[in-house]
Amino acid sequence: MSNDPKEPLLLDHEYDGIRELDNNLPRWWVWLFYITIIYSAVYLIYYHVACQGDLQAAEYAKEMRAGEQIKNAAMGKFEASIPTSQPITDVAALEDGRQTYSKFCAPCHRVDGGGLVGPNLTDDYWIHGSNYCDTVKIIWDGVPAKGMITWKTVLKPDQIQNVASYLYTLRGTKLLMPGKLPENQAPAKPAAPSGFE
Ligand code: HEC
Repeated sequence: MSNDPKEPLLLDHEYDGIRELDNNLPRWWVWLFYITIIYSAVYLIYYHVACQGDLQAAEYAKEMRAGEQIKNAAMGKFEASIPTSQPITDVAALEDGRQTYSKFCAPCHRVDGGGLVGPNLTDDYWIHGSNYCDTVKIIWDGVPAKGMITWKTVLKPDQIQNVASYLYTLRGTKLLMPGKLPENQAPAKPAAPSGFE
C-alpha cells in the first residue's frame, strides 16, 4: 500500500506527477455488482442454455398473434352484425350513403351507377352475389386484384352499411346514358327487398 503515512490511500506509483488513490468501494456497491454477475449467470442459463423463456423474436410473434386474435374478434363481431338480407331504409342513412357514393365510388362506378372502371350497379347482374350481405362484404374487403378498393381501411363500418344500402336505391333506375353491359351472364335473382325495385 502507500508509503506515505500522511496519505494512507495514496498508492506508491506515479506517472508524470499523476498519483492514484485506493478508495475502498462502498459495500452496497460491491454487493450490487455481485448480484448483477449472479443475475447474468441465471439469465444465461434460463434463456440460452435451458431455453425456458421466450427470446425477443418469440415474444414478438406471441404479441402479434394476440393482436391478430383481437382484430379477428372485432371483425367477426362486425360481420355478425350485418343484416343478411335487408339494406337500411332510413332516409338519413341513405343520404349519408349517397354522399359517400358520390365522393368515393362515382369515379369508378359513375354517378348514376352505370359503371366505368367498375361494373354497372343498376342492373340485375352481379359478379359477387346479389344479397345485401354480399354487397357489404365486397365493399368491406374490395377486390384489389380487379381494382375495387378495400374500403374497410377508408370508411367506417356504418358508412359502408349506408353506402351499400344506397346502392340498392340505384337498382333498376333509368340511366342518363347507356350503362356498362352485364359482366356476369347468369342473371342473379335480386334479393333486394321490395321498395327498392
Ligand atoms: C378504383 C375504382 C373503384 C372505386 C373507387 C370503387 N370501385 Fe367498386 N368495383 C370496382 C371494380 C373494378 C369492380 C369489379 C371487381 C371484380 O371484377 O371482381 C368493383 C365492384 C364493386 C361491387 C361488386 C359488383 C358486383 O357485380 O358484384 C360493388 C358492390 C362495388 N364495387 C361497390 C363500390 C362502392 C360502394 C364504392 C365506393 C365506396 C366503390 N365500389 C368504389 C372499382 C371501383
